[in-house]
Amino acid sequence: SPILKLNRTIALVGLMGVGKSTVGRRLATRLGLPFADGDHEIESAAGMSVSEIFATRGEADFRAGEVRVMKRLLEGPPIVLATGGGAMMNDETRAMLKQNAVTVWMRADLHVIAERVARRDTRPLLRGRDTIKVLTELSEKRYPVYAEADVTVDVGGGSHGVALEAMLTEL
Ligand code: S3P
Repeated sequence: SPILKLNRTIALVGLMGVGKSTVGRRLATRLGLPFADGDHEIESAAGMSVSEIFATRGEADFRAGEVRVMKRLLEGPPIVLATGGGAMMNDETRAMLKQNAVTVWMRADLHVIAERVARRDTRPLLRGRDTIKVLTELSEKRYPVYAEADVTVDVGGGSHGVALEAMLTEL
């Protein structure tokens, strides 16, 4: 495939809960590339979970760490990279992503995402708030930016397996 022959990092972008980490890991295995998860890298650098970083240092600090981690990962050899849902919204990170990666927007139905994120309490942006309302607001703000990605994979209400196969077809 022309995209895979570019031998560049494949960066998955899109809303929280869409399956960037799960599908990204499986995509990496299928392509024989290393996998990295931006949020996990930020957590190991900080020695704290994303929730703890938001709670003790605030979102601005998290975003600063996210820029540093993305820079390090994007300057390295080709990988499959699962980004945090807000990564594309930072001007500096977005420029690095465009420069150094093939960006893939994973899109799914908001109700499917809401159901998935409800099973875990790891997203500070959702805590104590109406999930569908937050996801709707985020989608309004972010979809125009995610749409700048090189490839869009809309999996509707599909499973992670469906998403993976759809992505392999697009790539
Ligand atoms: C965020 C998404 C999260 C994490 C943080 C902020 C966002 O990543 O980076 O909670 O702004 O959408 P996931 O997309 O992996 O959940």
